[in-house]
Amino acid sequence: MAHFQAHNMSLVDDSGISLETVETIVQLRARIQHWKSMGESIALVPTMGNLHDGHLALVKAAAESCRRTVVSIFVNPMQFGKNEDFDTYPRTLRDDIQKLSHYPVDLVFAPTIAEIYPQGTETTTQVIVQGLSDILEGEHRPGFFTGVATVVNKLFNIVQPDIAWFGEKDYQQLLVIRQMVRDLALPIEIHALPTVREVDGLAMSSRNNYLDEKQRRLAVKLYRCLRHVVDSSQQGMAYHYAVVHACQELDEAGFMTDYVVVRRREDLEVPSEHDKSLIVLAAAHLGDTRLIDNLAFELM
Ligand code: PAF
Repeated sequence: MAHFQAHNMSLVDDSGISLETVETIVQLRARIQHWKSMGESIALVPTMGNLHDGHLALVKAAAESCRRTVVSIFVNPMQFGKNEDFDTYPRTLRDDIQKLSHYPVDLVFAPTIAEIYPQGTETTTQVIVQGLSDILEGEHRPGFFTGVATVVNKLFNIVQPDIAWFGEKDYQQLLVIRQMVRDLALPIEIHALPTVREVDGLAMSSRNNYLDEKQRRLAVKLYRCLRHVVDSSQQGMAYHYAVVHACQELDEAGFMTDYVVVRRREDLEVPSEHDKSLIVLAAAHLGDTRLIDNLAFELM
């Protein structure tokens, strides 16, 4: 059985595995400064916890990329809209640390909201990534990317990683973070890994936990529709038709579709006929659960 030690929040399980977990910036900085003074490189995997195999793939890659690996676990209130799932978002810190203890992670940073936003989220300095933040996810979730960019920027300043790892499942988020790093000249490399999927193709996501059995069986349709857009586009069908067809199929199956679009992969702009590196992205509600997914593809 796992238990927390009172002061340093180390989690120790039966096999004696211990993983240091700190809550405060001061504690974290002491660690980081020590590593930096020894010339050790640092990788960061920012997460909101409720870790699944997608996160763990990032953790593994991070550990191979740098001498030290930090995983942050923080459900960031600033990136949730008023009617979104901040209150119900799964918080599973104990299980998360247990999972991470099987990986070469050096430190878990699990701050409180007050630690990250001592002045509250309303009055704090914001990082606004222009352009990309206003389309697609940004259009359907106003303020979302400002919340993401603000917290990721803060985590970058706290941890000062050499490399930070993100999943391509949140593809627009990845581009927003790359743009922030470019625009603000942050000395951090952003690395990404492909989406990890369940056996049937559903993209792994903490929000899949909200689905009941029937919805879970249906959910894979999102992936299948994206696959169909890719296959038919590559076979020469104009992707506009494939996209309309995908939306219809999703809505008929019981989804409420926010969008299915094909965009230029590098910047999510509407592609011209010369663009060949594309990506199809979709967002749809199944009951109260909002799912997103994407597939990158090339045209000949
Ligand atoms: O992708 C996520 O889990 C979050 O958006 C992130 C990057 C950890 C910021 O809160």
